[in-house]
Amino acid sequence: MTLSESAAAPVDEVVLEAVGLTKHFPVRRRLRDLFSRTPAVVHAVDDVSFALRRGRVTALVGESGSGKSTVARLLAQIYPRTAGDIRLHGTSTRVRGGRPFRSYVRRVQLILQDPFASLNPVHTVRYHLTRSLKIHGNAGHGAEDLDAALGRLLTRVSLTPPERYLDAFPHELSGGQRQRVAIARALGADPEVLLADEPVSMLDVSIRLGVLNLLQDLKERLNIAILYITHDIASARYFADETIVMYAGRMVEGGDSETVTQNPAHPYTRLLTDSAPDPERITGDGAGVDTAAGKDRGQGEPPSLIAPPAGCRFHPRCPHAMRRCTTDLPPRLDIGDRPGHWAACWLYDPDTVAADAPGSAAPDADPAVPPPPAAVEQDGTATLGEAR
Ligand SMILES: Nc1ncnc2c1ncn2[C@@H]1O[C@H](COP(=O)(O)OP(=O)(O)OP(=O)(O)O)[C@@H](O)[C@H]1O
Ligand code: SF4
Ligand SMILES: [Mg+2]
Repeated sequence: MTLSESAAAPVDEVVLEAVGLTKHFPVRRRLRDLFSRTPAVVHAVDDVSFALRRGRVTALVGESGSGKSTVARLLAQIYPRTAGDIRLHGTSTRVRGGRPFRSYVRRVQLILQDPFASLNPVHTVRYHLTRSLKIHGNAGHGAEDLDAALGRLLTRVSLTPPERYLDAFPHELSGGQRQRVAIARALGADPEVLLADEPVSMLDVSIRLGVLNLLQDLKERLNIAILYITHDIASARYFADETIVMYAGRMVEGGDSETVTQNPAHPYTRLLTDSAPDPERITGDGAGVDTAAGKDRGQGEPPSLIAPPAGCRFHPRCPHAMRRCTTDLPPRLDIGDRPGHWAACWLYDPDTVAADAPGSAAPDADPAVPPPPAAVEQDGTATLGEAR
């Protein structure tokens, strides 16, 4: 599908889907493990399902080690999956190198965090972009077509006039300009999906907003589906239509970004939003990402992913943990405030809350029994009000 065809396709059409996506990395075995029947694995990603839609940004938010990059690499088909499915336009796809992989990559492009590492320092911008255009069959016929395509790519990422940048080497560009070149290279494939793994986290805060605005512009003008991976839940509110929160390899909450960030339901999401000082910080002092992570860690550490906790993986850190949380995995439960807002948390199962209410003696439970879903809305809003 060409760029003009992509732009004409209906917004919201599902392009790429993760269905029960699971990735377990084998752990190097020690002598005593040889006698164990079940080999040790890192449960990096378990049962992750979501859809990326044309003309929409989906944010994947979570602290370090929660499995965000692994999800992106699974969707890019760089890692083979342990279980689950990846569907492109509804068709199950599994590609391993060769022509099928090139054809898949043409439609699904990955943008990495560090533009300096992703560009070859001995080659110019012209080389990187020409290579992308040629590999993906978008260089046209002859030098004139190629020059025009190069000019269009650089103009699309606001590196103008193109002649100023074409013969520059990566070290001659700023971090923001390098990331724009990396984005232009991805666009050289004429993709339907961009998987952007922390695309601005290594950039100066002063230029982050410009790169996010560029991605926003691409989403709107080219009707591309974007997965935006970030530690920073405040930037998800600003930039993404939908937000999914991951904790220890599992999805714990999802919904439209405004609702998830302003009225979070899952205790872990509340911890993240409480720790986020101000959405404006992506243009401000840049303390946001570290502050959020630091404060969050102050209230406990993420669990081992080799032997993750039974039941809800957040239960060792959760102030609302109930007896059932330590044994049973919570399913996605509708919150009911906005369509599509869900959380994987037993707080939203009335039967579980009743069984664990005061008098039913849950030994580890917080004495303040969490509010039922209707009251959670006010609670979440109040908490965020303080944080702002
Ligand atoms: N190739 C690998 N082999 C073994 N374990 C891995 C591998 N890649 C990732 N992991 C583990 O999988 C888990 C998830 O890692 P991942 O990089 O996906 O997290 P992340 O959310 O992207 O973290 P960050 O925010 O720090 O980038 C971590 O425990 C990590 O150590
Ligand atoms: S399921 Fe239980 S432990 Fe997990 S977040 Fe909800 S209340 Fe906390
Ligand atoms: Mg990562």
